[in-house]
Amino acid sequence: MNKPSPSRRSGISAFLVMDVLAEAKALGRKAVETGGPGIIHLEIGEPGTPAPRPVREAAIRALESGRIAYTEALGLPALREAISGHYKAHYGLDVAASRIVVTTGSSGGFILAFLAMLDHGARIGIPSPGYPAYRNILQALGIEAVEIATGPETRYAMSAAAIEAAHAAKPLDAVLMMSPANPTGVLTAPVGVKAIAETCARLGLWLVSDEIYHGLTYEGEEASALAFSDDAVIVNSFSKYFSMTGWRVGWLVVPERLVRPIERLAQNLAICVPYLSQIAAVSAFDAYDEAEATKAIYARNRAVLHECLPALGLPPLPMDGAFYAYCDISRHSNDSLAFAKKALHEAGIAITPGLDFDRSEGNRFVRFSYAGNESDVVEAMKRLKAWLG
Ligand SMILES: Cc1ncc(COP(=O)(O)O)c(C=O)c1O
Repeated sequence: MNKPSPSRRSGISAFLVMDVLAEAKALGRKAVETGGPGIIHLEIGEPGTPAPRPVREAAIRALESGRIAYTEALGLPALREAISGHYKAHYGLDVAASRIVVTTGSSGGFILAFLAMLDHGARIGIPSPGYPAYRNILQALGIEAVEIATGPETRYAMSAAAIEAAHAAKPLDAVLMMSPANPTGVLTAPVGVKAIAETCARLGLWLVSDEIYHGLTYEGEEASALAFSDDAVIVNSFSKYFSMTGWRVGWLVVPERLVRPIERLAQNLAICVPYLSQIAAVSAFDAYDEAEATKAIYARNRAVLHECLPALGLPPLPMDGAFYAYCDISRHSNDSLAFAKKALHEAGIAITPGLDFDRSEGNRFVRFSYAGNESDVVEAMKRLKAWLG
């Protein structure tokens, strides 16, 4: 009997970094058995620190005090209010809690936002290099991702001019920007964000702004697209700045006309975000000091990489923010996957090949994540020097 096949929409790409991680973990286990030097993990874009203490304490209190129940589909009112307060405290912006939607990480936010804004067959401009899940989520949803290449002429930031050119070549329905960016770490200056917001408004395009790395800027000034457009759809998360990846809680800020469509989708797709994570996340905003202390670790790691990588013939793109160094490897290799595998096997360092982020130029780059601890970063640079030097 013929068995039914999986859908075509599920035939999306895997994350190469997950393959690197699996291989790195296997080598790490072997090193433990043989007593050899372990593997240093610079491949995963994940904070090495736990969630702030007030978050963990709030979760314990909630667990001990009773029911873990469904919440409103748009999120716990107390959390939506707290996020609204964050916009006032951090950006000086007034954002009504009614426009805030709590989501399952920013990943869940993308799915809700794309479904609410765009129909099957719509076209959205996304930055290249870029976070690979954008392309893959869009493909699964039947929305066309139009890659907009960024290069040295704009310091690898997406520009209003590039959006305009892509739209003129074949009309878009939406644009997705991200700053600070993954994998590059590049920040779009406030004037650039303003130009993109104004261009999208003039062309009648939805603007989605992925602001998940906000708070993690070391050079330059970060600006929310909300400062320039009430119509922008903002995607953010507790995962990075607040070190809460596994809690799976993020948020959207959306214009009023998207609130009810998103509520209907959220009710039906997942009912709500886990209560425990939501109640705990309210307390994240009492922990800016802990988040800033973690950021200070990243800043020290960044300084180490900033000094070592160019000297090793691995010049990074501008390391403005997030916790990534995206380095040109062309002095050493023209195959980023092979280079990453060699670095793993010969130097014991796990890094991510650029091909994950950019299918045309990605062979020229690898990404180092510096979200881990300082001693690992220092040891990785020693190993890299011995390996390449
Ligand atoms: C640019 C960017 N957006 C979104 C995400 C998804 O994060 P989460 O779903 O944990 O909020 C990531 C994760 O690495 C990312 O780098």
